[in-house]
Amino acid sequence: MTRGKFITLEGMDGAGKSTHLSWIPGFLVARGVKVRLTREPGGTPLGERLRELMLDKHQKLHAETEALLMFAARREHLAKVILPALEAGEWVVCDRFTDATFAYQSGGSGLAWDRIAMLENWVQGSLQPDLTLYFDVPSEVGKARTQAAREPDRFEQEGRSFFDRVREGYLRRAREMPQRVQIIDGTETLEKVKQSVENIILSICFK
Ligand code: TMP
Repeated sequence: MTRGKFITLEGMDGAGKSTHLSWIPGFLVARGVKVRLTREPGGTPLGERLRELMLDKHQKLHAETEALLMFAARREHLAKVILPALEAGEWVVCDRFTDATFAYQSGGSGLAWDRIAMLENWVQGSLQPDLTLYFDVPSEVGKARTQAAREPDRFEQEGRSFFDRVREGYLRRAREMPQRVQIIDGTETLEKVKQSVENIILSICFK
């Protein structure tokens, strides 16, 4: 059985990730792939319960608690959902993964980068997604889009400087792993972004 591919989508809130998540699974299925769509935080009963706690705007967790909970949920997600699906030949499309912990808990909230790297190594070993689509927008664009679209969750309530640092965190990850993390200009029109995403998926995952 050929192992499936692991694709993650990343970007600050309002970058357009969810819009593009709506067509990517269908695009893959049309090419004969079996797809498992999942998300973080979440993806398992434990992960979904932790998600509720972590996104609750009435309680602010310590950044280290938050990082530890993200990785606890991730361990469960890998063991119960992601790895079994990949081994069964399914392709896993995950709405956020470890890059978000680097971007939000280190970039945004200021935890040491190396601390997150230690947790990453503990929980994942050498496992990385085959492809990460990172939707890049300036913080003011992300903010304007989330404010127009919905009631903000706890992270979406943060200010511009927090999201500037989140973006820096993502760009640092992209510099560290340029093959895996593909930067997509999320300020382009929907049609242009869709075209770039299709080209990237075809060239990296179907070569
Ligand atoms: P979502 O609404 O795009 O699913 O993301 C939920 C929020 O959780 C988003 O604001 C980013 C945040 N988050 C972290 O802070 N660290 C993480 O490791 C993950 C996966 C998400």
